[in-house]
Amino acid sequence: MWQGRFKEDTAQVVLKFTQSLDVDWRLYEHDIRGSIAHVRMLGAVGLLKNDEVEQIEKGLGAVREEIRRGDFQPSERLEDVHMNIESRLTELLGPVGAKLHTGRSRNDQIATTVRLYLRDCLLDLQEALLALFAAILDRAEEHADIVVSGYTHLQQAQPVSMGHYWMAWFESFLRDYGRLEFALSSLSECPLGAGALAGSTLPLDREMTSRLLGFDRPTRNSMDSIAQRDYMADYHHFAALFAIHASRLSEDLVIFSSQEFNWLKLPDSFCTGSSIMPQKKNPDVPELIRGKTGQVVGHMLDLLITMKGLPMTYDRDLQEDKRGLFASLNTIGGVLEVLVPLIAGTDVDEAAALAGLERGFALATDVAEYLVRRGMPFRDAHWKVGRLVKYCIETNRRFADLSLPEWREQLPEVDEDLLPLLTFRESVERRQTFGGAAFSQVRQRTAEGRAWLSWKTENLTATRKNLEEYVL
Ligand code: ARG
Repeated sequence: MWQGRFKEDTAQVVLKFTQSLDVDWRLYEHDIRGSIAHVRMLGAVGLLKNDEVEQIEKGLGAVREEIRRGDFQPSERLEDVHMNIESRLTELLGPVGAKLHTGRSRNDQIATTVRLYLRDCLLDLQEALLALFAAILDRAEEHADIVVSGYTHLQQAQPVSMGHYWMAWFESFLRDYGRLEFALSSLSECPLGAGALAGSTLPLDREMTSRLLGFDRPTRNSMDSIAQRDYMADYHHFAALFAIHASRLSEDLVIFSSQEFNWLKLPDSFCTGSSIMPQKKNPDVPELIRGKTGQVVGHMLDLLITMKGLPMTYDRDLQEDKRGLFASLNTIGGVLEVLVPLIAGTDVDEAAALAGLERGFALATDVAEYLVRRGMPFRDAHWKVGRLVKYCIETNRRFADLSLPEWREQLPEVDEDLLPLLTFRESVERRQTFGGAAFSQVRQRTAEGRAWLSWKTENLTATRKNLEEYVL
């Protein structure tokens, strides 16, 4: 396309090294949409005649059909998706096809195309995340009355409702959803018309192309429009934190389902066996979710490091922004695809959870707080209950094994009203602080979660419906 200025042909190795077709071919639908908007605008401002607009639009439609049918063999010699489509168009239409790129550069073209593509991807991710919320809420409601141990330092800490545990992940993913919405809002301005970097001497109507493509408005600075990739970084930030949350959740599933904990049951269909050990049921799915986190975080770093030190405005380095973006989108989509049914199929063995709790001293804080209610300073209560735990360990007893006289021997402040408090269920029920582990708190939060979910589901449906009008 630029041979006019050159004395030699581009070297083969350079063609091979500089092409981006292997990565950007998946953008063809969105590239063609951007081109259709551009051509309609060129017609509206009088740079193309009506019949030229019609011909080009038809031609682009024909190329699109060829690609969809799999009849189009793109060539690496033509470097990228944009030039392949344009050159095929010119093949089909002759000189009229050569008018498509009027007032446009691949710099604003790629910025527009990726935003359109990413917008669709982020909507798909929102939908997948909403399914994740539904699965978590289902579990939280179903397991609302089941008591399990909560852990700090992976040591038994205090009993909680399993519903409370699930809702803890609800909150994490809720923040991820907020980051996803933010990433989507980063895509709301249209860079088309920014040209190579400085806009155009031609009377382009940027409001029109922005409107036709479903953006809120055109970008305000042509240089920034083609130089920045913040909208990708915003996606990566969402992706990295989501991956980390999914990884930590997966780690829990692996640990809680191991023989040593043994109170969480993963669905057989999401586990695999061993080629040698017949007894094995391995949690490969959560392990792989955990294992893919590094790639996702890595893709974020990849983009940030690529951006660092790039002179204003477009630099060819920016072509490398897409490889990691698409890989990350693939991974996150894949994780969500298995995580939702995995959670849906996960169950709790209540008896095993209880047996585990009975081995520890998860009610120690309850005893200390009982003493506090009787007027003892907390630090004293902490020390005395600690001493009691030591006594129990040394004499191989549980709290439940101690009779009232024995309690009194160790802690004279104790009355018989302590004993009914010392059940795991009672302990959970009494944690009534806002956001605490009490069953009632959890039920309230799941109800709020349901309301939030239906609100966001309606929003997403409306957004999708609205954007459908802009599919050119
Ligand atoms: N394939 C290029 C990319 O993905 C398109 C933009 C090329 N622009 C340029 N000035 N060479 O970034």
